[in-house]
Amino acid sequence: MGIFSRNRTNTPHGTENPAVSTPTKVAVVYYSSTGTIAEVAREIAQYAEKAGAEVRLLKAAELAPQAAIDSNPAWAANAAATADVPHATPADIEWADAVVFGSPTRFGNIASQLKQFIDTLGGLWAQGKLADKVYSGFTSSATTHGGQESTLLALYNSFHHFGGIVVAPGYTDPAKFADGNPYGTSHVDAQGNNPVDDTTRAAARVQAERVVKIASALKAGLAAA
Ligand SMILES: Cc1cc2nc3c(=O)[nH]c(=O)nc-3n(C[C@H](O)[C@H](O)[C@H](O)COP(=O)(O)O)c2cc1C
Repeated sequence: MGIFSRNRTNTPHGTENPAVSTPTKVAVVYYSSTGTIAEVAREIAQYAEKAGAEVRLLKAAELAPQAAIDSNPAWAANAAATADVPHATPADIEWADAVVFGSPTRFGNIASQLKQFIDTLGGLWAQGKLADKVYSGFTSSATTHGGQESTLLALYNSFHHFGGIVVAPGYTDPAKFADGNPYGTSHVDAQGNNPVDDTTRAAARVQAERVVKIASALKAGLAAA
């Protein structure tokens, strides 16, 4: 529950540099219908917290009609289970030093719900307030070659427009050779038959730790500049 709070504070990360007196702030912003991405989002948020960041776990608002949600038990269950997760706002993005976006694959692209949220960021973009932050992404699909990389690359298109620093996990940890996706954490859910597993959790850990590490270094460097 605590990680859902917008006001949670943790042990500062990046305090090696005396110019940095506040913890690195990470927003994990996701959309999830049937719960896979919601679970990966919680993993990334928790590992970012463990790495010393102050974390906000936030969801994009639902756009689908209630009848569609009610027609799918997994969708309805995820909506109920995540009812307490706050909706992301542009102010959350302005607050963050790093933003990790998560979306299920939708025909090889990101979900419209997350895109709708991203499209509310024009005001911040116009003020240059999306620039000089770390951005990263995660996804899931039903099938192994179902568009995970194209979804992440589509998401990353926007980060370039933001003037953001794209921090992909690459193969920077031995665990990445198990999940095999250098673009971001990804999970194959096999139509709900393959729950989030240790391989995906390890990828979430690597990505969260790397985002906090690079965002902390960037924050310290900018503070000293
Ligand atoms: C409209 C729609 C389009 C989808 N397109 C793809 C796709 O292109 N490739 C794929 O493997 N899975 C596709 N899926 C499946 C979801 O991406 C996948 O089940 C995902 O893990 C669901 O995440 P969630 O549980 O967080 O909602 C699609 C699902 C929907 C509803």
